[in-house]
Amino acid sequence: MDLITRETLFNQIRFWILDAGSIIRKKINYPLKVGIKSNPQDLVTEMDREVEFFFAEKIKEYYPEHYLLSEEGFGDNLSTSAGTIWVLDPIDGTMNFVHQKQNFAISLGIYHQGIGEIGFIYDVMNNNLYSALRGHGAYKNQKRLPKLDPNKKLDEAIISINHRWLTKNRLIDEKITQQLVKNVRGTRTYGAAAIEFGYVAEGAIDAYITMNLEPWDIAAGRIIVDEVGGCTTNVVGEQVDMLDRSSILTCNPSLQETLINEYLEKAKK
Ligand code: 2AM
Ligand code: CA
Repeated sequence: MDLITRETLFNQIRFWILDAGSIIRKKINYPLKVGIKSNPQDLVTEMDREVEFFFAEKIKEYYPEHYLLSEEGFGDNLSTSAGTIWVLDPIDGTMNFVHQKQNFAISLGIYHQGIGEIGFIYDVMNNNLYSALRGHGAYKNQKRLPKLDPNKKLDEAIISINHRWLTKNRLIDEKITQQLVKNVRGTRTYGAAAIEFGYVAEGAIDAYITMNLEPWDIAAGRIIVDEVGGCTTNVVGEQVDMLDRSSILTCNPSLQETLINEYLEKAKK
């Protein structure tokens, strides 16, 4: 994909994301019908579908040769990463959307032949737009984000981690993750992967560790984190394919080795 095409696409999508966000804000206090998907923690609302439909229609009208990989059913069935693929989570953090009416995001990554070219994360209620164009840095609104501090130590770090990692579970030895919590400066749990990627990119947190994300939870975030020199892999340090669901460690580069070797690798059951 050449630079002109990427920049045109970037500017157009930026406009559409802001537009979709203002539709959500306008309707935020409307009564909501909440559906349960795979389990009581996995929610969907008509707003998730409306936002996804909004982008599916834009693709059909303006970029009919592009594909859509998305959460709520308007996307394509994809088995390869060939071509240009929009990887969309119309509302990441649906539980926050339903319960708190804040701390959710629209997350959209554009991949061309498997390479992440453009990333957008829009924290709708705070009106914060994180963005990146591969090779041209990451931004929060109009401000360029600096590269992450290469000398961050674990005892100065804030990590974002779900509480399920700290209680007995079938995936990891919780004693090791409890040790990690003791050894860092602080922990946070935000419940919206895209926002947590945004916070890693701006250095508000230094790592985000999570068990099982879908491609659309990861797609935009890892492009943005890449552009500030951060690292994104699964929790044992392996590359994640853009079409796969996976555990995720996204972090400041100076913490990656310690987090994997001293904690996450050892915690593996
Ligand atoms: P979602 O709100 O788009 O479903 C919550 O810890 C984070 O994990 C959210 O970003 C949520 O995205 C994501 N997640 C991915 N798969 C999930 C699932 N099956 N159930 C709940 N949250 C999931
Ligand atoms: Ca979602």
